Amino acid sequence: MNHLVDIDITDKKVGLRVDLNVPIENGEILNHERLSAALPSILYILERTKKLCIISHLGRPEEGSFNENYSLEPIKNWFQKRLNVEIPLLSEFKNIPESLCLMENIRFFKGEKDNASELSAMISNCFDVYVMDAFATAHRQSASTYGAILEAKEACAGQLFSQEIKSLDSALHNSENVLSIVGGSKVSTKLNVIKNLISNSSKVLVGGGIANTFLKAAGHEVGISLVEDEMIDISRNLLDTNKIILPKNVYVANSTQDNSAELVPVQEVNKNKMILDIELSEEVRNISNHKYIIWNGPLGIFEIEQFSNGTKQLINFLENSSSKVIAGGGETIYAISKFSDIKKFNYVSTAGGAFLEYLSGYKLPSIEALRLK
Ligand code: 3PG
Repeated sequence: MNHLVDIDITDKKVGLRVDLNVPIENGEILNHERLSAALPSILYILERTKKLCIISHLGRPEEGSFNENYSLEPIKNWFQKRLNVEIPLLSEFKNIPESLCLMENIRFFKGEKDNASELSAMISNCFDVYVMDAFATAHRQSASTYGAILEAKEACAGQLFSQEIKSLDSALHNSENVLSIVGGSKVSTKLNVIKNLISNSSKVLVGGGIANTFLKAAGHEVGISLVEDEMIDISRNLLDTNKIILPKNVYVANSTQDNSAELVPVQEVNKNKMILDIELSEEVRNISNHKYIIWNGPLGIFEIEQFSNGTKQLINFLENSSSKVIAGGGETIYAISKFSDIKKFNYVSTAGGAFLEYLSGYKLPSIEALRLK
């Protein structure tokens, strides 16, 4: 795979696919992380050529037409301010100016989602070099994230894309030295993540609703907790690897609205109660011999204050850990920004779905396309 630093882009026409899919409400950008993360490639390219066209999607608009609610206008304004330069917002892959510009939401273009060859050819024909920097969209086989890479005269990974792969690989290729922590509500949606992390870690701590299913599989009473009964057998097989760490104490209540949550040992969960959070056990807090810790998924219903303890304890533990911490996934990023600061972590991926697919060991279309170049 070519990386941006490997390619001579001096004075060339560059197309840069980034992921600027950020939450926007009434024209106000609520979180800038992905915009800031796109800057290193943009600045690197601008130092070498002025002919840069930035391409991104935003949300999931209906394809084939303009929709003001999904326009990149607020994002254009953010970059104009940040870079102190006028940036035209283009609506077609024609007459692209030889200066910094931004293409409107690529999902307004017919054929993006289905990787239509007409669109990928139209994109790639505009540029001498196509730079893929949208790691968070690397799991989508779309015209701008797959076809355009294959059809480009020259293509490479951007700074963020290379950094994301490097960080994840450094942990995933060090299995003896990795503690993984997987939370979230369902085993079924993270089964491949858990399986792959079991193979690539020395231990895997489970939390959230996922822990309930594992606790039931281990023979514990879980009362009226969220459990996936169809996942019990498979969870039992995973427990047989002796790599899963189960919670020792859990927060239980009658319902998510019940204000009288109690912390109890897992052996004392009453059949009328539900488990809504876990305590980060001493066993995990005393772990200090792992070079890497990979974290995805909250340990409880962290949106509700009284069930946010496990997630907060974990964030605090990770911030102070001497291990290299790699976190990612939509809810995880949200929990870190809610209770702490992303800057306190060694590495927080910008990706949600793509991070999970990479952790599952899947081949991501954009990475495959870049490897074929
Ligand atoms: C994300 O936010 O995970 C990426 O931008 C991909 O968005 P998508 O799930 O709409 O393809």
